[in-house]
Amino acid sequence: MEKHEQTKALVMIFPISKGDFQSAGEASSEIKNKLLQLGFPGNLIRRVAIATYEAEMNLVIHSDGGKIRAEINPDAIFIEVTDEGPGIPNLHMAMQEGFSTASEEVREMGFGAGMGLPNMRSCASKFEIVSVVGKGTTIKMVIS
Ligand SMILES: Nc1ncnc2c1ncn2[C@@H]1O[C@H](COP(=O)(O)OP(=O)(O)OP(=O)(O)O)[C@@H](O)[C@H]1O
Ligand SMILES: [Mg+2]
Repeated sequence: MEKHEQTKALVMIFPISKGDFQSAGEASSEIKNKLLQLGFPGNLIRRVAIATYEAEMNLVIHSDGGKIRAEINPDAIFIEVTDEGPGIPNLHMAMQEGFSTASEEVREMGFGAGMGLPNMRSCASKFEIVSVVGKGTTIKMVIS
């Protein structure tokens, strides 16, 4: 008899509201817990947790609201982050380590080092970002 393996993807979707520091971090920790439960390797879980946490905080801090979709497959995790604006005027600059437009108030909360996007890129096996000013930003990551 053939060995039965998980073949169907597990999809988790989290809406993230602008300015919601109260629940910030919940989506990434739910994704992390699910991966722990499913027995994924620690190194992969760590990369997914960092990438989704940074994405989640960027939605809270910089976006007008959006969502995170995580698709868990046995051999790869697909993360898609979409928001409803305001978009990023200069993606090249936004991707540089240390670039941040975070307010003084947000910096006092410990954010705004300008490391979120560079961290996402380095945690991901594949990283894609598309942003249109006035429309929104979409990030697609594959972590395997
Ligand atoms: N979803 C988004 N919508 C609009 N602008 C964004 C979005 N994500 C990032 N940005 C812009 O890109 C900049 C860099 O983002 P990045 O996550 O690298 O740093 P940060 O959020 O400012 O600081 P840190 O992530 O270290 O707390 C932000 O300061 C902001 O100007
Ligand atoms: Mg950030």
